[in-house]
Amino acid sequence: EKGTYPHYMLKEIDEQPAVMRKIIQNYQDENGELEIDSDIVTAMNDADRIYIIAAGTSYHAGLVGKQFIERMAQIPVEVHISSEFGYNMPLLSKKPLFIFISQSGETADSRQVLVQVKEMGHKSLTITNVPGSTLSREADHTMLLYAGPEIAVASTKAYTAQLAVLAILAEVTAKSRAMEVPFNLVQELGIVANAMEVLRDSKEDFEMIAHEYLSTTRNCFFIGRGIDFYVGLEGALKLKEISYIQAEGFAGGELKHGTIALIEEGTPVIALATQKFVNLSIRGNVKEVVARGANPCIISMDGLNMEDDRFVIPEVHELLTPLISVVPVQLISYYAALHRDCDVDKPRNLAKSVTVE
Ligand code: M6R
Repeated sequence: EKGTYPHYMLKEIDEQPAVMRKIIQNYQDENGELEIDSDIVTAMNDADRIYIIAAGTSYHAGLVGKQFIERMAQIPVEVHISSEFGYNMPLLSKKPLFIFISQSGETADSRQVLVQVKEMGHKSLTITNVPGSTLSREADHTMLLYAGPEIAVASTKAYTAQLAVLAILAEVTAKSRAMEVPFNLVQELGIVANAMEVLRDSKEDFEMIAHEYLSTTRNCFFIGRGIDFYVGLEGALKLKEISYIQAEGFAGGELKHGTIALIEEGTPVIALATQKFVNLSIRGNVKEVVARGANPCIISMDGLNMEDDRFVIPEVHELLTPLISVVPVQLISYYAALHRDCDVDKPRNLAKSVTVE
């Protein structure tokens, strides 16, 4: 039940710190070490390449998950949109492992791929919020999200839960291969949960940003580099689906290859700047769009912030920033939809789980 909340979406955004803590709890052994089913670790170690299959927000989580797995466990990963995989199947490696990411575990496009790769004799792991869902029952292995029911059509807490579980999968696999991991993940996820609480208490800022930038605009762009680009894609999807504003996410460096032509006087451009090694280049991109009349809204991270940044998120490890930087874009989308009188929890033309191909 949504209790005192006006919408499930807002409640689910607010639940994110608690979900982080629940995930840590559920994946910890008695010594406080992260632990996952040993069969899953074996499946990861047996694979010469991982294929992540997902749709929508879960696909965006997969893009970040690829970075976690490649950087920590050093296994090559490809990420595919499930509806395209069947027609566009890549040349598969000798020992692939398929990871299906699906909040509902019922997405027909993803199931279609699972059926196909099972017939080919390949191994599979489903990461889902719903125990006993179709994708969970039919795959060889399951990892649960422990996010609690997600009712709003726009996925929020499932996305951050997917990222946390993917990070755990990457870290536990890396440790099993005696690889050095960049941090103590239990500790870092605790820092993430605290940072999410700070953002939860900053709702007025996001409401103001939504009001200022998005109450009358017809379009909006998100830009970022590195993993910020993937969060921009998720921000654009969130904004489109609930506020019906035409929104797109672009890699900062791609702007000059065509999309900068779309910038007009007053076009809102939300720039994410949480990555040290591209901090100056993304700011260069902001200057380029401002020179063409854009209305910039920079969301940066403590330590990398500069004058005129519109919001500064608390510092977390730079590999884990998507868990935090997504919260402002979730809240900005929520308030934009609210200002524009949209049905936040049940946007037009959409269903919570897409069970047709
Ligand atoms: O249940 P799934 O994670 O498989 O759903 C995938 C997409 O349908 C879903 O993420 C959709 O894009 C959301 N409405 C996004 O907010």
